Amino acid sequence: MELAAPAIWLRDNCSCGRCRHANGQKLHGITDLAADLRVSAITETGEEIRIRFDGDEHEAVFDRDWLSTWWAEPEDGDGRTEDAKRTWSAADLATVPDCDWSAYRAGPAARLAALESVLSTGFVMLHGVPADDGAVLDVAETFGFVRVTNYGDLFDVRVEADPTNLAFTALPISPHTDNPYRDPVPTLQLLHCLSNAARGGDSGLVDGFRAAALLRAEQPAAFDVLTRTEVTFAFSAPDAELRARRPMIGLDTQGRIREVRFNNRSLQPMRGERVAEFYPAYRAFAEILNRPELRLVLRLAPGDCLVFDNTRLLHARTAFDAVGERHLQGCYADLDGLASTVAVLRRELA
Ligand code: OGA
Ligand code: ZN
Ligand code: ZN
Repeated sequence: MELAAPAIWLRDNCSCGRCRHANGQKLHGITDLAADLRVSAITETGEEIRIRFDGDEHEAVFDRDWLSTWWAEPEDGDGRTEDAKRTWSAADLATVPDCDWSAYRAGPAARLAALESVLSTGFVMLHGVPADDGAVLDVAETFGFVRVTNYGDLFDVRVEADPTNLAFTALPISPHTDNPYRDPVPTLQLLHCLSNAARGGDSGLVDGFRAAALLRAEQPAAFDVLTRTEVTFAFSAPDAELRARRPMIGLDTQGRIREVRFNNRSLQPMRGERVAEFYPAYRAFAEILNRPELRLVLRLAPGDCLVFDNTRLLHARTAFDAVGERHLQGCYADLDGLASTVAVLRRELA
């Protein structure tokens, strides 16, 4: 077998019992290995490949299939960037990814499909979750771990007398991501409808990755500004003083869109020379995010629970009149736990 991988890579990734614990974890670090290794001999026996080196006594052992597929597979990112997503505008979603709570709970196949939608489309709508206090936490616990914040394990979204956040009024809320003033940001959000009898109060979702890609295509200089300019988001309440400083559009090292933070309510004043180039870029992105064709309009009914990627999707609501009762409960969770649940379910169903 021709070995394309460098000697140090082969030595470092040896699968033998001296290099790996029975649990698969590696027992050595890079400084335990010689810096200038060369492959001196390769022995092939059936599926096993053994490699000896100049400069090290160790004989490294590999499974042939593992070695050839691992090395030949292109590096494809971590599943979080635009490359791994099915981005959309509203017309692309002839059907909204959804699942009945009873089916979700009854079997792993329905649960897997629902959770996969969160990874690919950015959200899933669950129907028929009991409209009970705290049920949103039960939903989060089916795939991961609730992220407790200063708002508690869950937060109530309804009109309050002395609101610390515009969410707790009857005012409209334009497309935004939640809690951009945290680092790490909660990467998943759940919104569960307990009642929605008010006139208005419709929900909207916008794919921020699609919007950012449109900005890149239409106004590359503005896109560039938003990826390079760190802005500060903050939230202040009697018991909290939160701030985080990140660009509105976050890229991975390959330049792929990986995270959107957008929230006009918590954006702090900028200082310095960047202001002049920032404002037109900020406006350009907001104008795209506000395009009606990008917004999926939904009306939550009691028992509906949206689960969405808060690093990608923006959510919004229209104003409502406070005569009828409108009450949502929300909580935060994280994508790593959901992705893990998806991977385990795929393993079980394979
Ligand atoms: C929120 C929010 C939307 C709504 O609480 O984060 O955006 O529909 N609420 O009330
Ligand atoms: Zn070894
Ligand atoms: Zn919100």
